Amino acid sequence: MRRLLLSACAGATCLVAGALFAQEAPRLTGPEPFTKETPAPPMQRQVTDDVRRKRNYPDQPPLIPHAIEGYALDLNANKCLACHARKFTEQSQAPMISVTHYQDREGNTLGGVSPRRYSCLACHVPQTAAKPLVPNTFVDMDALVEREPRGR
Ligand code: HEC
Ligand code: HEC
Repeated sequence: MRRLLLSACAGATCLVAGALFAQEAPRLTGPEPFTKETPAPPMQRQVTDDVRRKRNYPDQPPLIPHAIEGYALDLNANKCLACHARKFTEQSQAPMISVTHYQDREGNTLGGVSPRRYSCLACHVPQTAAKPLVPNTFVDMDALVEREPRGR
């Protein structure tokens, strides 16, 4: 009984904390209550113009500028590597995955792609023209340097 009461209290604390932080969180649900079934909004069209996008900072995973629909990425097949692996870049003319993709977490460079870099879509994503859910005040490093004169 006491344990039950304790967990109920912990639950209540979580609820209160949740309510406090809720103001900051972006709204993730639609206008309808979640119990009501409504049709999903149409998928956004992806940008597939083959133009490589500038990175916002040097070690950002670059965005995918081409279509990836139907590309297999599972235990048995990795379509991405069929173009981006070192040995296929001559015929595909795709940029090679950089050396970090061949390194394990101890920094050893392996002969093949490192398992931790196998699931490309965990880091690389296509873009859509969707409206941002929350405002973004990110300022590019270069713009920041221009704004702030040197020697300060
Ligand atoms: C048929 C060959 C091919 C396949 C398959 C392929 N790519 Fe590409 N990828 C390219 C080429 C070529 C480019 C250069 C830009 C362009 O032409 O779209 C590129 C560009 C990229 C870039 C941008 C690199 C940069 O420096 O801006 C990323 C990231 C990328 N691909 C990720 C992927 C991922 C992830 C997959 C699998 C889901 C994939 N690619 C599958 C050929 C391919
Ligand atoms: C854990 C995150 C992560 C995963 C998984 C990952 N990448 Fe990357 N990728 C990065 C980052 C970060 C960069 C930029 C810095 C660097 O090169 O490490 C990058 C860079 C690249 C580049 C540009 C290379 C260059 O020299 O300009 C290509 C192409 C690329 N990745 C393709 C892939 C493909 C294909 C896969 C799947 C086999 C993959 N990546 C998996 C994080 C990742």
